[in-house]
Order: sequence, then C-alpha cells, then structure tokens
Amino acid sequence: MCGIVGYIGSEDTKEILLKGLEKLEYRGYDSAGIAVRNEEGVHIFKEKGRIADLRAIVDEDVKSNAGIGHTRWATHGVPSRYNAHPHQNVTNRYTIVHNGVIENDEQLKREYLLDIPLQSDTDTEVIVQLVGLFSKDGLTTEEAFRKTLTLLKGSYALALLDNEDESTIYVAKNKSPLLVGLGEDFNVVASDAMAMLQITDQFVELMDKEMVLVTKNGVTIKNPEGVTVERAPYTAELDAGDIEKGTYPHYMLKEVDEQPFVIRKIAQAYQNDQGELQVDADIVNAVNEADRLYIVACGTSYHAGLVGKQYLEQMANIPVEVHVASEFVYNMPLLSKKPLFIFISQSGETADSRAVLVKIKELGYKALTITNVPGSTLSREADFTLLLHAGPEIAVASTKAYTAQIAVLSILADAAAKSAGIDTGFDLVHELGIVANTMEVLCDGKEEFEQIARDYLSTTRNCFFIGRSVDYYVGLEGALKLKEISYIQAEGFAGGELKHGTIALIEDGTPVIALATQESVNLNIRGNVKEVAARGANTCVISMKGLEQEGDRFVLPAVHELLAPLVAVVPLQLIAYYAALHRDCDVDKPRNLAKSVTVE
Ligand code: F6R
Repeated sequence: MCGIVGYIGSEDTKEILLKGLEKLEYRGYDSAGIAVRNEEGVHIFKEKGRIADLRAIVDEDVKSNAGIGHTRWATHGVPSRYNAHPHQNVTNRYTIVHNGVIENDEQLKREYLLDIPLQSDTDTEVIVQLVGLFSKDGLTTEEAFRKTLTLLKGSYALALLDNEDESTIYVAKNKSPLLVGLGEDFNVVASDAMAMLQITDQFVELMDKEMVLVTKNGVTIKNPEGVTVERAPYTAELDAGDIEKGTYPHYMLKEVDEQPFVIRKIAQAYQNDQGELQVDADIVNAVNEADRLYIVACGTSYHAGLVGKQYLEQMANIPVEVHVASEFVYNMPLLSKKPLFIFISQSGETADSRAVLVKIKELGYKALTITNVPGSTLSREADFTLLLHAGPEIAVASTKAYTAQIAVLSILADAAAKSAGIDTGFDLVHELGIVANTMEVLCDGKEEFEQIARDYLSTTRNCFFIGRSVDYYVGLEGALKLKEISYIQAEGFAGGELKHGTIALIEDGTPVIALATQESVNLNIRGNVKEVAARGANTCVISMKGLEQEGDRFVLPAVHELLAPLVAVVPLQLIAYYAALHRDCDVDKPRNLAKSVTVE
C-alpha cells in the first residue's frame, strides 16, 4: 500500500528518498514520486511503474537538503504519472504526499474548490489545494494546514512542503501509520521504520490528529488544539540486515525457509526460566474470563484464526467465533455477554481490522492483538499484545507470519488451558520442536514441491484444494497463496462440500490438491478424493505419516495432529512459489496487491 518518506538535513536528499522508497517497495504500489526543495524552488519527479522507472527520470544535477517521497497504490484515479504523488496546489507553493483515503473529497471540492482547476483525479489534491486556498486568506502555513485537517473525513498520513519556508516539513496523521525519525543534524518522516533504518533507528510515534513540524534540528508535535506534546523516541528493534534478501532469489523463498527458526524463536520467547511456556497472566485471565472469543482478521491472518479457533476450543474449552474484519465491521453478530476480541494481523496496520477495533473499543470491550510489529496501530490501541517474533516479512504473500500466528495461538490456548486446570495431554514445547525440525526437512526437499508444481500446475487455469477439519483451513490458505502469486484461479473447499455444487467444475485433468493429516476424517477425505478422481481430476494427495495410502503424492513426517497445519502449509507455500516462478510472475510483488492494506 502507499508509502511515505521525508528528509530534512544536510545531505543530498534524492538518494535518501529513493532508497527509502525502495525499502517500501514490498508493500505494493503502482507509481512513485519525489519532491525536493532547494533555493530555486521545489522540483518534482514522478513516474508510473517501479522505483527504477522513477530513478531513471530524476535529474542528478538537482541538489537539495529537504524533500518528500511517495509510493502510490491507486484508490482514486488510475495509476498514472499525473495521479502519482507529490501533488501541488494551483500556485505551486505547496507540495504534498498522502497515504489513506479522504472520504469527503467530493463535498470539499464542491464547497471550496469550484474555481480551482484540478490537475489529478486524486482525493489528495483536494488537501493541498485547501492549504493553498486558506493560506491566501492570510493564514500561516501551520494555521492553513490545521484548518484543512479539521475539514478532512477519512484516513491520512501527510507530509507537506512549503515553497516559501525552507526550514520545515509539515506532517499530520489520522488512522494511517506515520513516524518521525530522529538523527544528528537531520530528521526524517516515514510510514514504516524500515524505510529509514539505514540512517536512524530512533523513532517517535505519532497519534491520530496530531500535527508535527519537522526541521533539521527539531521535531515539534502538536495536539489538535495546537498545544505542544512531549514524546520520547523509541529504538526500532529491527536489524537492517533482516530486510535484505541475501542470496535468495525472492523474499518469499527466504521467509518460507525462515519458518523453522521462527517456530523455535517463538517457543523460546514464550518460555520462562524453568523452560515452561508462559503467557502474560493478564492476557490469560482475560481469555479465561471471557464467555466467548471473537477472532477478527483478514486474508491469511483470518486463515490462521480458523486454526486458532480449533486450538482454543479443543485445548482450553472456550467457544470461539472467527470473523473477516471487513464484514464484521458493518454486520456485527449478536455478541455474547462477556466477549474478548482477538485481532490477528501481521502488520498491525490493516484498516479493516482497525475499524473493528475502534468500534468494539467504543462499545467498551477488551481486545488482544497478535501481531508481528511492536508499536503498530492495532497493538497500541488494544489492551494486550502478543508478538509473533517472526522478523520483518517483506514478500507480499504471507508465509512465516501465518505459521507464527498459529504457533502463538497454540501457546495462548495452552496457557489458557493450564490456568483453567485442563490437561492438554501433550508437551507443547516439545511438539513445537518436532514441528520446527519437520519444517526444516520440508524446506530442504524443495525439489519435490517444484516437481509437483510442474506436474499439476504448469498449464492449468484453475486448481482446487480440499481437506476436512483443520486441513480444510490449511487448504484455504494454500489456495490463497497460489492465486495471489501465480494468478491461477484456486479455491479451497471442505472435502464434503464439493458434491453440493463445486464438483461441477471438475473436468479431465483439473488439479485437486487434497490434505490428509487428520485421523478422524482420513477415510472421509479419501472418499472425496475418489469422487473427484472419478470425474477426471488430477489428484495430488499430501498425507501425514501413519495415515498414508498407496498413490499419495507426498507423505509429511508425523507431527502432533493438532499442529499439522504448521507443517502441511509448507508444501502448499512452496508449490505456489514454484507455480508462480514457472509462469514468470513477480513472486514478491504480485499485481494489484499490497503488503499492508491501510485503506478500508
Ligand atoms: C496474503 C496476505 C494477506 C494478509 C491480509 C491481512 O498472503 O498476506 O491476505 O494476510 O492482508 O494482513 P495483516 O495480517 O497485516 O492484517
């Protein structure tokens, strides 16, 4: 999704901005631009396509010590150079970049901007034109900016340059993430700490509706009433090396391979000095005091939530509902008397999930966020946070965050069970160790999954994933991985549901990937495989040791049945990866998608 960078200091700005934008590329975008300011005024370079395309048109001779930059993921108006940010007001005095969506842009145009010829189709241009308009009425830039902010409905992270004031970048945010980074003789602005990690690890969080004046030697945060607010910086605990690809051809492959390490790290992070798993007592109490848990998430995180429901119900005996955030927010079910909400989000910034969090907080309910990003919006605004410890996930297709989410949910279920005096009957630390070792074996044998991708998916236009119980949930994730990066139409189905309609789509050669890791439904899923095979499907059964049958394409080493999703998903991630590779798709940056979806 859109990204923002800004720099004010003594170095030449262009390269810092371009490098920062490159670090944000993983979030997905369709155009990019920078504005740099020097004594001649503001120079703008913008281009549709990749940062490399932007780099190619930036004039090397323009030197400057202050600037702002942006990667755009189109919401208002097609991806194009004229819709790319930065945008300027009609007199070119002000230049702005914006993340988010202004919901009342049409109304503002009608009310204030009828006489101003707009130069783009964006909601963003409305903001900069308003600042220009109000400053003409004699307001200072700060006053004009503040007046504009009071009129905006929706989400925004903004960085604004004033041609007549070389010393300041004006910054504001509401609902969209934005940070200010601190340096010696310079300060920066970034929608994601990763963008500026090369030059600073000191960041200041901004709160909604705050405005910030960023100069070379100072950062002044003001609340909506204009009163200055003091806030200490924090150290971003990210290693710049964590976000490099190293020798891997793609981030996705690197992140798949990191999964055994992540599972071990999680087990370690949640162990006490005696080697027992432990979760903050306040969180465990909140879980056990609730009469029902509501898991809210999107996409892959939603799929992890489905597996988490199984854990919390089976291990801790707590009823759980799992909801897609974008539906829940506008169609809330009847809630139980004492609900606890669990938000699962890799980025901690997903707007659909945040909209639910805001709503349930208004209703006075408590929330726990399970996220990979400490200090993210969903983490800050919930009562409790559990971290994934997965390290930065850069590829758009989520892999290690999914398995980390499931592992953390299993630890939460285990802790809730123990505190309620329930014996789960197994040692989770030990079982997670076996999972990590098994993942390693799978990652070491990638050729097998490359061959499956070749045999089943090289020419197909569609593919089905079937499973029962938790295998069904893993199938949903396998289908999402495949469709998002290879563009093969892929759907996951409960094995028993196919014959109620979808089986009509099975033709000669249709690939059907079936998971068989659950003993209680092994015979049932085998029956479903026979049903589709009888209608011509090209079936690929991935089973678990002990449940295998002749003809199974791959047999996973045995792990505890409840934890099977953690290993069963690895072949599906790799099959999707190779299918995308064989089709020459851009694995890490699939079309139309963004890593962090910060608009509803
Ligand atoms: C798919 C994928 C998405 C995200 C979804 C939620 O590979 O990554 O489906 O899972 O956009 O994002 P988070 O977890 O950041 O809330």
